[in-house]
Amino acid sequence: MSHSLVTMSYIVSAILFILSLSGLSNQETARKGNYYGMLGMAIAIVATTLSGSVTAFGVLIGALIVGGLIGARAAYKVEMTQMPELVAIMHSMVGLAAVLVGYANFMDQSISLEGVEKTIHEIEIYVGILIGAVTFSGSVIAFGKLSEKINGKPLLLPGRHWLNLVLLIASVVLGYEFLHQTEASGDALIPLAIMTGIALVFGIHMVMAIGGADMPVVISMLNSYSGWAAAATGFMLSNDLLIVTGALVGSSGAILSYIMCKAMNRHFLSVIAGGFGTTSGGESAAIEGEVQPIDADETAKLLKAAKNIMIIPGYGMAVAQAQHTVYEITKLLRAKGKKVGFGIHPVAGRMPGHMNVLLAEAKVPYDIVYEMDEINDDFDSVDVSIVIGANDIVNPSALNDPNSPIAGMPVLECWKGETTIVLKRSMASGYAGVGNPLFVLDNTRMLFGDANTTMQAVLKALENK
Ligand code: TAP
Repeated sequence: MSHSLVTMSYIVSAILFILSLSGLSNQETARKGNYYGMLGMAIAIVATTLSGSVTAFGVLIGALIVGGLIGARAAYKVEMTQMPELVAIMHSMVGLAAVLVGYANFMDQSISLEGVEKTIHEIEIYVGILIGAVTFSGSVIAFGKLSEKINGKPLLLPGRHWLNLVLLIASVVLGYEFLHQTEASGDALIPLAIMTGIALVFGIHMVMAIGGADMPVVISMLNSYSGWAAAATGFMLSNDLLIVTGALVGSSGAILSYIMCKAMNRHFLSVIAGGFGTTSGGESAAIEGEVQPIDADETAKLLKAAKNIMIIPGYGMAVAQAQHTVYEITKLLRAKGKKVGFGIHPVAGRMPGHMNVLLAEAKVPYDIVYEMDEINDDFDSVDVSIVIGANDIVNPSALNDPNSPIAGMPVLECWKGETTIVLKRSMASGYAGVGNPLFVLDNTRMLFGDANTTMQAVLKALENK
């Protein structure tokens, strides 16, 4: 393939990736956005393969088949509830790739650059390996926390900020040493290897120090890091498309981190510094009061009497896969002339847009799905709110208990409505591990059980009468 044809293909791919991102920003166009992304990636792979830079076609095709099969199997097998873990482990692969490409470049004897170009190339290698290693180890820990293989509680080492500072300074000093050694044709592998170790420790320490409720920010931040790691790989390989794609992922991840921080009322730097919610001194308030259980028949009665109903889905809806039954109930209630809406908290579930994906899968129309900000002031006119497997996102202590680990996070204020029905299996806490005083309020009823089973019982009761 001629050089200009490769460049043209790369430009087409880059445009398709931009169209893909803009498509993914809206539910109606998300499917199209995915197709643009797939097409862009297919063109990019073909163009890179035929660009002349590849000589070992056998190895490449073998790697494509093995990688493709592993990816396809993982994507087919993954449950919706495990999606965030899959994303975290994919990010770790991007980081690992940047580290491996960095070392391959470092050891490649055929690259003979001189002067400034040589220094720039060495800086690319050093920075690429640094970002890649942080992304790799940070994402592996994020995977562990999301899959609950590692405790979600923040690990707060004494003097952790100093430790981070020492690691940062050491990386800069080693960087100087690395450049100096290569200049003098000395053994540059030693500072490079020590820095890699430091970056791996830094990634682990950074994510271990972040508390459960702040994990959404970590996920989007690692998403951003994986983009920058890909861009660094692009620089090392002199591949313009990889630089553009990496920068797109890096910057969109950074914007998502900002949106997440805003949604949770956090400062980005405080989240990264870790230990949120554990430094406020006092104990969070104990939950006191009687729980008032309700059954499916009584729930159906309340719904029949209500005019304005708000459904608030959370992580438990994903676990129970209750979205289809929920939509059956929604259709039935709307057919009876009731107003039914869905209130979505920005960090509901375990990944950005988690609830929207589930509702779209069940074919819930977009125009009855509202963001938290759109409906939070309207709860006084809601007759019944149904909280389906949600906990942290409807916890009033976020607003009125300064010692709560989720203090300051905006939540859906369903308790301002007439009645709230909470569907969950027990009194267990949610992801952030905090008790929820909503469950013992006078106007709250608890419908215990698996959300799909209880929703089916409610549907049956509604149909019967
Ligand atoms: P959570 O606070 O985690 O609460 C989910 C509740 O669902 C649990 O209390 C659980 O109670 C219940 N549940 C689980 N399986 C169920 C089932 N089969 N049927 C009925 N209920 C079930 O979820 P949330 O309210 O959606 O809040 C999200 C939390 O995750 C926030 O703390 C957020 O910061 C964090 N987080 C979010 C993200 C993103 S990006 N969205 C990423 C990482 C972390 P039982 O065990 O009693 O049933």
